[in-house]
Amino acid sequence: MPRLLSGLQPSGQLHLGNYAGAIKQFLDLQDRGYESYVFVASYHALTTVRDPEVLRTNIRQVVIDYLAFGLDPKKTHIYLQHDVPAVTELAWLLACLCPKSQMDKATTYKDKVAKGMSANLGLYTYPVLQAADILAVQPDVVPVGEDQRQNVEIARDLAQKFNHAYGTEDQPVFKIPEVMIRKDTAVLPGIDGQKMSKSYGNIIDPFLPEKKLRKVIMKIVSDSTPVEDAKVADGDTTFQIFSAIAGAEDARTVDLRAKYEAQGIGFGYGHAKQALFELILETFDEPRKRRAELTADPSYVKGVLRDGAAAANAALTDVMIKVRTAAGLC
Ligand code: ADP
Ligand code: TRP
Repeated sequence: MPRLLSGLQPSGQLHLGNYAGAIKQFLDLQDRGYESYVFVASYHALTTVRDPEVLRTNIRQVVIDYLAFGLDPKKTHIYLQHDVPAVTELAWLLACLCPKSQMDKATTYKDKVAKGMSANLGLYTYPVLQAADILAVQPDVVPVGEDQRQNVEIARDLAQKFNHAYGTEDQPVFKIPEVMIRKDTAVLPGIDGQKMSKSYGNIIDPFLPEKKLRKVIMKIVSDSTPVEDAKVADGDTTFQIFSAIAGAEDARTVDLRAKYEAQGIGFGYGHAKQALFELILETFDEPRKRRAELTADPSYVKGVLRDGAAAANAALTDVMIKVRTAAGLC
């Protein structure tokens, strides 16, 4: 059975960018028979979140959202990073093989410090801990959005360095995982046309009450092509979001594209936004209901996390024995 691993930071509410870039892939792959490990990157969040109550709330919300979006605990082990503390040991072993210059080149650190986040060592070595999350579970694939590509490449590189230092040609310690990025949604734009991100205040939250959701969607930027004229679908933010949620090949996307490209049918951006609003309500109808139920059932959520941690710890135990033996610790 092929294995998948991925995670999200609990740094606030999830949005359509997280869904389109990361979570939609988790859902597709869990239903295609992957043994899935999906976790909440709580240690990573400590690099930037200082308020314990905020962290606690965010962690709980990400788990609820994973389940609401449709991750199925029978197919996907859902766990909290800090319930699997051996990843920090593996991070140390990897750090000892990681040249400082490799972290100097990592873009996420520079980006985050440029945004005003504190330049702490945790943030600086963030990709090493991410490499440990990945390698500890020995996945075949790591589905993420485009902005995580470099971190997964660092994980692949550290695995190779470890194999080179401690493995043999026919018995490598680590399998090298593949990064998986959706071709049609590498970067989902937000309502202002730049990358959708919590820190840009341009997100669409699919769990918003209907009225608020509609208001946000109507604010999506568009150009001033008149209603009667043909429009370039791929250049328009509303179309890009629609296509990412429904899928580029989906009949609804094909139909919407035809309307953009037709001349003189009186189809304007307002109509496209209304179509996107309806698509979001339809796609997230079940998740919206499930989210309310899950919020009211903390003991179910606790049980899911307990089982997920047990599965992840079991996977890690095997890998850590191999790693410790290879490095000379046992
Ligand atoms: P944010 O930018 O809102 O802080 P995160 O950095 O926490 O989001 O991203 C979590 C996951 O969601 C990552 O795999 C990331 O690549 C993906 N992701 C986030 N925003 C987008 C986006 N706009 N388009 C595609 N994927 C995204
Ligand atoms: N850095 C990822 C994010 O910002 C979260 C993450 C931590 C992750 N460890 C990971 C993603 C391992 C994939 C694999 O969302």
